[in-house]
Amino acid sequence: MLQEIRLLKQCFPNSWIRKTIFLVFPSITIKKSRRIIAFLKTKGEEIILTCVDKNYRRKGYASQLIAKSKAKYVHTYKENKAAISLYQKNGFIIAKEIKTPHGIKLKLVRER
Ligand SMILES: CC(C)(COP(=O)(O)OP(=O)(O)OC[C@H]1O[C@@H](n2cnc3c(N)ncnc32)[C@H](O)[C@@H]1OP(=O)(O)O)[C@@H](O)C(=O)NCCC(=O)NCCS
Repeated sequence: MLQEIRLLKQCFPNSWIRKTIFLVFPSITIKKSRRIIAFLKTKGEEIILTCVDKNYRRKGYASQLIAKSKAKYVHTYKENKAAISLYQKNGFIIAKEIKTPHGIKLKLVRER
């Protein structure tokens, strides 16, 4: 749990406190030397968080986590280009745009 909080702060510096509620949901994790360097959380069929340590990004770890997960959809903010590209590269397509008080979110659904 503490390791996931450390990563959460890194991945979402402006919203990590709000996201701590998600820590109760099940994770798929990747560890290096017994430290968690990447995790993905699901709530039912939805991916609710994907987070990779800054020192380990662009090495395919998030893609590995998505491949292990059976989740069918995910929401992400429209300005999070890295996340959109990640999910598209891993078989998700944009299904709809949703206006929220925090900005526009996209719903992406799994095609493969
Ligand atoms: C988004 C995030 C999870 C990606 O993790 P990652 O392990 O670096 O992703 P991968 O190495 O599997 O990348 C796969 C593809 O995603 C896309 N991608 C990943 N990071 C990107 C970036 N910074 N800019 C543009 N595209 C990016 C690329 O298409 C990449 O393929 P490529 O490296 O062959 O070009 C990571 O940057 C992160 O933790 N960000 C902060 C938290 C966040 O925004 N999470 C997603 C919303 S819940």
